[in-house]
Amino acid sequence: MLVKPAMFKYTRGKGERLKGIMSTKHRPVSSEAKKVTTHVLKAMKQEGEKISMLTAYDFSMAKIVDAAGIDVILVGDSASNVMAGHETTLPITLNEMIYHAASVIRGVKNALVVVDLPFGSYQGNSKEALSSAIRIMKESGAHAVKLEGGKEVQESVERIISAGIPVMGHLGLTPQSIYKFGTYAVRAKGDEEAEKLKTDALLLEAAGCFAIVLEKVPADLAEEVSKSLSIPVIGIGAGGGVDGQVLVLHDMLGINQDFSPRFLRRYHSLFDEIQGAVKNYIQDVKTQDFPNEGEQY
Ligand code: KIV
Repeated sequence: MLVKPAMFKYTRGKGERLKGIMSTKHRPVSSEAKKVTTHVLKAMKQEGEKISMLTAYDFSMAKIVDAAGIDVILVGDSASNVMAGHETTLPITLNEMIYHAASVIRGVKNALVVVDLPFGSYQGNSKEALSSAIRIMKESGAHAVKLEGGKEVQESVERIISAGIPVMGHLGLTPQSIYKFGTYAVRAKGDEEAEKLKTDALLLEAAGCFAIVLEKVPADLAEEVSKSLSIPVIGIGAGGGVDGQVLVLHDMLGINQDFSPRFLRRYHSLFDEIQGAVKNYIQDVKTQDFPNEGEQY
């Protein structure tokens, strides 16, 4: 693989280097690669370099995704769906999120690891939100937390950030509120909801969020929000006018075949591949082809 020479990209003032931070354009995909921080993400937005983000929930997948050079790994509460088989993200607990996050962290060398605060761990009050965020950071070794909502969670966002914990916001379709919305349809199509979303995005930036996820909103609106903020906006079903993209790993790899929204691009059909391999194994066991002489002691 052709590896570009390591080159410091983001400078502060005259020729002053921002220590250890490189643009991913110039970040070699090798063990020399440098860690992605929240500051790198902001600089990427300024430079117009798109941010890549995927979910991961376990050590082995996180290791693969990180080694491929992803910028951000999200330990999403979508683990509730794809790992635990629940219908919604609501049932997953703080302890379960910490277990997934700690497993991911052990597989990651360079990506920024962001962990979802699960439903019920921050909505009560800002003190509860801070103590949940502290547990995630302390017990998993993660680098940042994400939570859903705008004005409703402003106090919690500020309190978590004041403790030195970076926070990513999440607006648009917020799956933890699915029973309030009633459907997973596109959000903020109407003027009133679009205005609230724009106000909430500005508010989250002012509260100190380092980035915002925008889920399933019209592309024009997402682009407008991205242009109005200096922090990166990472979209999922929010079009190409934002600063980066995120997908659920099991959806884009085709492990999960039951979910096919328009925004999802599948890069593999691992369900079929894995099933085929398992069928071959079953046949080899049944026919006593496996193990052969070279596969025993
Ligand atoms: O939990 C998750 O996977 C997410 C992404 C859809 C952004 O929040």
